Amino acid sequence: MTQKTVIVTGAARGIGLATTKQFLAEGRRVAMIDRDAEALMAEAAQLQDVLPVVCDVSRPDQVESMMAQVATAFGRIDALINNAGVADFGPIEETTFERWRSVMSTNLDGVFLCSQAAIPHLKRVQGAIVNIASISGLRASTLRVAYGTSKAAVVHLTQQQAAELGEYGIRANCVAPGPVRTKLAMAVHSPEIIAAYHDAIPLNRYGSEDEIASVIVFLCSGNASYVTGQTIASDGGFQSTGVGLPALRS
Ligand SMILES: NC(=O)c1ccc[n+]([C@@H]2O[C@H](COP(=O)([O-])OP(=O)(O)OC[C@H]3O[C@@H](n4cnc5c(N)ncnc54)[C@H](O)[C@@H]3O)[C@@H](O)[C@H]2O)c1
Repeated sequence: MTQKTVIVTGAARGIGLATTKQFLAEGRRVAMIDRDAEALMAEAAQLQDVLPVVCDVSRPDQVESMMAQVATAFGRIDALINNAGVADFGPIEETTFERWRSVMSTNLDGVFLCSQAAIPHLKRVQGAIVNIASISGLRASTLRVAYGTSKAAVVHLTQQQAAELGEYGIRANCVAPGPVRTKLAMAVHSPEIIAAYHDAIPLNRYGSEDEIASVIVFLCSGNASYVTGQTIASDGGFQSTGVGLPALRS
């Protein structure tokens, strides 16, 4: 088994699907993981060299059997992309414990569980983990009490992973995307939020799925062999800028 492999969670659409296609283009076999069975099977049926596995990443039992299934089918696991995520925006006082838990269980528990299950396999090949956070985990804003907190935790979890797994040659990095017009974003981005993002982004536009995927693929590649514990914002400049941007545009 010499062909490199990768597991991409949340692969049925959006950033995860674009990432799947970029890894396929560079010759890897891809395990596509998603809990939306219908969408996952429809997309996987159009691709070669993929193994679709229906799995809810927030469920320890399902993660364990998914990892065993992928390891048996592929014989090696070179990288894990923890991309599955949910967004639920609301004020703190209206965020019930159920809403809080449902965001945390996918966005944070899922990253912890999939990574832990993958570690024995990644150790054998000195593999890589890439976790998908968000600019909402780097800078606080209204309505993101659960989402933003879950993503800030993913940034720190990445550093914990890098600290502990480095001695096995496993690298762990994080990508913090800016806004991309996926189903997830369009469900929570009102016209006001879209306008505010344009104002706050130096490149003055949303990103594309492929612009996030290419950073993920880079972090798994040999070109990033000395990079670990980092969070790269692929966000059109949002993270680097402060007040006054709209007023200062010429
Ligand atoms: N789109 C954006 O603007 C944006 C910005 C910053 C960060 N992100 C992050 O990027 C990642 C991908 O987002 P996207 O915009 O492509 O979203 P999307 O909704 O288009 O795709 C997410 C996929 O994850 C799957 N999924 C959700 N919960 C799951 C679970 N518990 N188990 C298995 N699969 C699950 C969904 O079924 C879906 O196919 C997410 O982590 C998201 O938070 C997105």
